[in-house]
Formats: sequence, C-alpha cells, structure tokens
Amino acid sequence: MDENARFTFLLVIVVVLLAAASGQTQDTPVRTTSSGQIAGFTSTADGRTVENYLGVPFAAPPTDSLRFAPPRPVQPWEGVRNASVFGSECVQTSPGGPMSEDCLYLNVYVPRQVGQAAALSVMVYIHGGAFQFGSASNMEGVDWLAAVGDVIVVTLNYRLNVFGFLSTGDRNSPGNFGLMDQRAAIVWVKDNIRNFGGDPDSITVYGLSAGSIAVSLQMLSPINNGLFSRVICESGTSIGPGAINPRPLESVRNLCRLMNCASDDPAAMVSELRAADPVQLTNAAATFTGTPPLRYWTPVVDGDFIPEDPLHILQSGALENRDVLLGSNDDEGGYLYEDPRFLAVDNVEAVKSLVQGLLPGFFTEVNQTWRICGDVLEALTYDYDMWNEEDPASLRRSLIDLYGDFTYVANTVQKADLYSKRNYTAYMYQFAHRLSYSPLPPGVGASHATNYNFIFPSSGFLERATDGEKNLMRTMMTLWSNFAKTGNPNSPADTTLPVDWPKYLPSTRQYLRLTDTMSPGSVLSNLRPKHTFFWTKTAPALDGRTCECQTCTPGVTSGAITFVGKTLMACVVACLMSYMYNHFPGAGS
Ligand SMILES: *[C@@H]1O[C@H](CO)[C@@H](O)[C@H](O)[C@H]1NC(C)=O
Ligand SMILES: *[C@@H]1O[C@H](CO)[C@@H](O)[C@H](O)[C@H]1NC(C)=O
Ligand SMILES: *[C@@H]1O[C@H](CO)[C@@H](O)[C@H](O)[C@H]1NC(C)=O
Repeated sequence: MDENARFTFLLVIVVVLLAAASGQTQDTPVRTTSSGQIAGFTSTADGRTVENYLGVPFAAPPTDSLRFAPPRPVQPWEGVRNASVFGSECVQTSPGGPMSEDCLYLNVYVPRQVGQAAALSVMVYIHGGAFQFGSASNMEGVDWLAAVGDVIVVTLNYRLNVFGFLSTGDRNSPGNFGLMDQRAAIVWVKDNIRNFGGDPDSITVYGLSAGSIAVSLQMLSPINNGLFSRVICESGTSIGPGAINPRPLESVRNLCRLMNCASDDPAAMVSELRAADPVQLTNAAATFTGTPPLRYWTPVVDGDFIPEDPLHILQSGALENRDVLLGSNDDEGGYLYEDPRFLAVDNVEAVKSLVQGLLPGFFTEVNQTWRICGDVLEALTYDYDMWNEEDPASLRRSLIDLYGDFTYVANTVQKADLYSKRNYTAYMYQFAHRLSYSPLPPGVGASHATNYNFIFPSSGFLERATDGEKNLMRTMMTLWSNFAKTGNPNSPADTTLPVDWPKYLPSTRQYLRLTDTMSPGSVLSNLRPKHTFFWTKTAPALDGRTCECQTCTPGVTSGAITFVGKTLMACVVACLMSYMYNHFPGAGS
C-alpha cells in the first residue's frame, strides 16, 4: 500500500468512526421499497436523529380514468428517487401548499438506532379535516413522536371531498375512495416497513377528528383483518354524526346541477364529472357540504368496504379483536365561543333555532335540508336544563356542551361501552388541559383538536408551551407509543408516568383525565353518563317515532335505512329498498 492509499484508507476509517460516534452514517439515507430506492434526509428532534422520507408514492396518480376509482399500484422507478420534499396536497378549496389530484404520497419518519435494535413498532397517522380538507404535507413535529416514542411514524395523504367520496350508491362510483387510499398506504407499510427497521406485525392506525372517524371505519372493514393490530381514535368515531352520507346519489345530482351536467343518469353523471376541471369541481362541491358536522362527501355504507351500518357492526357484527385507545376533550365545542352565531344566543328559542340549523344529526329531510326532529329539540332543552333558564351565558354554556356531547363525546363513550362489552381491550381518556396561550375566554376548557400539538408539536407550540405542557406532551407521547408497542399504555413500565391507566370495563367505565398535573386522582369513571344516554338512546328513540320501519323489514338495519327512516315518505322508500335488497341481493350495491 503506497503512502496515498494508506492515507486515504486511514481517512476513511476515521470518517466512518466519527460518523458512527455521532449516529450519522449518511447525510442522505437511502432505503429500498418494493417500487425502487428512495433517498431522504435527517432531522434532529429531542436530541435524536430521525430519518425523514417524504413524498413517497403509494398508489398511481388517481387522475383521468382513475378519478372516482379505487387506487391502483405505483409504477416502479429506476435508480434512487429523491424523497426530500412532500408530495402535493389533495385537491381542496383552501390548501396550505401546492395541490394536485396527483397526491397519493406518504412520509416515513425513522428514529435512528444505535447498534442492533429490535424491529420498531409503527404508527400510521390519518389526518383530519372533515374529509373535506387537510393534508400530511404540512405536518410539523412528526419526528418528535418518532424520537420520543421510539417508533416509526408514517403520515399520508388521501383523496378528499368529491374526489375521495363521490358515490352514486352503485358500481358507477361506489365511493369510499379516500378510505381505500388510506388502506393502500397501510398495505404499503405492511409490505415495506421491514426495510426501514419496522415490524409489519405491530402496526397501529391512528387519527384525530375525521381521521379518527376514518380509523374507526377502517377497523370495521373485514378486508383489513390481519393488516394492523391496534387503533387510536381521538375525537371521532364511525357512529357519530358526519361519519356516513346516507343519501350519496342525491349529493351527486346536486353537484351535477351546479356543473350543468347533460344527464342525471348515474353512469353519465360520473363520466361528465370525471372530465371536469378539478378546481371547478372541488369549488362546486364545497358549496353544499352540509352544515357542521359536514355530511356530504363523506364515507358511505357500500355493502363492501363498509358492509353495513357501523353501529350494527360494533354491536353484534363480525369484528376483528384489536386493542383500542380512544377519547375526547373536555370542551370539544369550546371554539364556538369565537363564533358570532353562538355569541348571539340569548334565549331558549334562539338555542333551538341554532340547533335546528347546525346539528342536523337526527335529520328529517325537508326541501333538501336536514331538520332535527321537533321532539328531540324539546327533549334536549329539558336534558340540558335549559327549559326554564334565562341567563344567556348559561344558555350558551349548555349549547356548547350539547354540541360537544353530540358530535364527539357521547359516541366515543358509546363506542368504549360497545367495544368493552365484547371483552376487547379499550383504554379511554379525556383530554382536559386548556392551552396556556388559548385565545378563548376564561372558563373554556380543552377545545376540539387542541390535543393535536401534544403528539405532533409544531414549532409555534414548542416556543410557547409551558414546562408543564412539555411534560404532558412527553407523557402523552410515551402513553401513545407504549400502546402502539404493547397494547397497554402503561407498558413498558416507566417511572416518569404519573399514574396507572386502567382498562375501560363495562363494570367500572374508568378513564384517565389527561392534564399537566396528573395523579392517581386523575382516574375517574362514568364520563357524562346522562348526556351520553340522551344522545345514544333518548334522541334516536324519539326521532324514530315518526317511522316504524323496523316492523316492515326485521333484520335490515343498514345505515342508510336507519338514517333515512324519518318521514313517512322516506320510510316507504326505505322499506321498499330494504325489501328489494332482501329479495334481490345486489340491487343495492
Ligand atoms: C431533492 O429535491 C430537492 C428539491 O427539489 C433538492 O433541493 C435536493 O437537492 C434534491 N436532492 C438530491 C439528492 O437530488
Ligand atoms: C319547500 O319549499 C317550497 C318552495 O320554496 C315551499 O313552498 C314549501 O312550503 C317548502 N316546504 C316545506 C315543508 O318547508
Ligand atoms: C366477557 O367476559 C365475561 C367474564 O369472563 C363473560 O361472562 C362474558 O360472557 C364475556 N362476553 C363476551 C361477549 O365474550
């Protein structure tokens, strides 16, 4: 070996040793996937190096003939693909960055291991946004969960609004494309994550708000059996309002009217809408998304991906046994204190008219708007002690409570009850920390989605958070990632955890109240039992009085039929439909 060669050899050794010591073996880490190689970059979170791979395609671009069609496989590529920038956001009315119909990309965050390590558990996050907006392409702080939790985290885009959920209720456009996209990403993780040091047999699917509704629907779909082992649902379930569009074809007809389609035949409408300009289409669809909680352009009971009414599946259908961690916030509706319509409420009639306009969950259709049944309106003023209340501030407080109960809390408790009755594992929390820099008036608690930053901390959150909030963030990341690894948030045991979180059982109904000052007293039981009873038993019973559908077709309780059966005419149609469905299977799908 001559001098130069010896010098080069030593230099290489020194560089390799230095790199190994600092945990950085490559500036541009490269991994292999089933479609080709990808090159990412590294970031540092909580003092730990995390490999980031962004904008990795998991399905073919859903454009042209693939619009309103299930996702198709990715075309493999030659050489090393640059995975250092996010893919485009899916088409929506107010994107946070570049958007395109070509948006089916995922991102992988891998905490770098020192030496030989066991395969890591994987958390797949499905973003929220009412199925209408949002993206994984502008998320911050994902590397924090990977670093603190010592898990691989995957985030993904899926088709939204009309692109993800246009359904004619038949094979012309069966709908649920957004859910199928999510599933394609989970399948990608199952097939590829071993090459990132991950364990394909330890996948947790996780979401917040509409993402949580999506996760709740994924766990009901029989085609997902064996695909993932655990789920985390934050504020949203498959049995709450806004999860299922019961009348999808009507949404398509309305859209077609706006887009001046030439025909109202389902096949012709779909091919016309398939050819439409994407921005024009998303804007037109956004003019009638329904009132919050949004209900057009959402998943449907298609008899296939979602085989039947979600409530029926949870109660008594075939359902894979997976560990579930779920919960809600203590003041979900708190953000409505910034809404002038709510601030204007000063008597009980104003409460009723706002509820009538904004909570179309127990709906009767009148002139293409959903109306809440009058009996339910009267009953809720009684249940929330508003009937003889005259203080406007108390009325507003009750109204905002009932909104939170209706949209998130009652159906979350109902799901915990149904799930635990099957003897499946459930852990329930109530997030009750008001942000230190909350702009909401004093007295408002943890409003919807304010828990998000405690798992995915934005730079703004990290700058402003108190020490107590940073501790709560670490505690929640530990509880969540423990659950992803073992199915038990308390394990592996960690002395920094302030309290042992008991399972939710039908007999005890215990849950953990998450705050920045937790103690054994943070384990409580029976979350809002009276109001949960109201929304899950009283209100549906009252609303069903106008229609005795059950008597004409025992055994058929598809979501569409349960929801539709509100007026006499709708009842007749529903009964006819279920008759046809029973006697001519296939007619409905
Ligand atoms: C990857 O793409 C980004 C953005 O276009 C660019 O800045 C970067 O240099 C590229 N990396 C490589 C290795 O080509
Ligand atoms: C439906 O709309 C029509 C026309 O605007 C109106 O005349 C009718 O009273 C409405 N029906 C109901 C039940 O509100
Ligand atoms: C759940 O477990 C209890 C106690 O072991 C048992 O009595 C009950 O039948 C089980 N329920 C189901 C649905 O398996």
